Amino acid sequence: MIGEFFVKNPEEMEALGVRLSKKLEGKEVICLKGNLGSGKTTFVRGLARGLGIKEGHQVRSPTFTIVNEYPTEKGTLIHIDLYRVRDFEWEEFIGNGVVVVEWLDCGEMCNLCIEIEVLEDDTRRVVIKKL
Ligand SMILES: Nc1ncnc2c1ncn2[C@@H]1O[C@H](COP(=O)(O)OP(=O)(O)O)[C@@H](O)[C@H]1O
Ligand SMILES: [Mg+2]
Repeated sequence: MIGEFFVKNPEEMEALGVRLSKKLEGKEVICLKGNLGSGKTTFVRGLARGLGIKEGHQVRSPTFTIVNEYPTEKGTLIHIDLYRVRDFEWEEFIGNGVVVVEWLDCGEMCNLCIEIEVLEDDTRRVVIKKL
């Protein structure tokens, strides 16, 4: 799952999240970068589906709530958005489940770093790196 992917539509973005979710053990930190509307939250929706998000829960953008937590078959999925609060102490969530952080720069805390770039015709180039 490490490498470069070209994603043509939101369904494919979600499917990529599902695929990546199958490699997770449950305590990883994943950073997600990419412009507004590039598909970060769509990708997380796929992660949630792949982890087996419990019925009645839906992934929504944490832009205003900052942190959204979802129960899944593989433990909690913690979805954080630093767009409005760059100095938010997201590290406190490490160890509580899979932690996915939008707008976090790739750093030593991250097990996986994902960067999404919008190309012409709405295709997304997704680069997944492991530290
Ligand atoms: N190839 C694509 N991959 C992902 N999203 C896409 C793609 N093409 C168009 N979209 C649209 O772009 C938007 C991405 O929104 P979202 O996932 O909330 O982005 P972000 O969290 O990066 O701000 C959605 O409206 C989605 O339907
Ligand atoms: Mg988002």
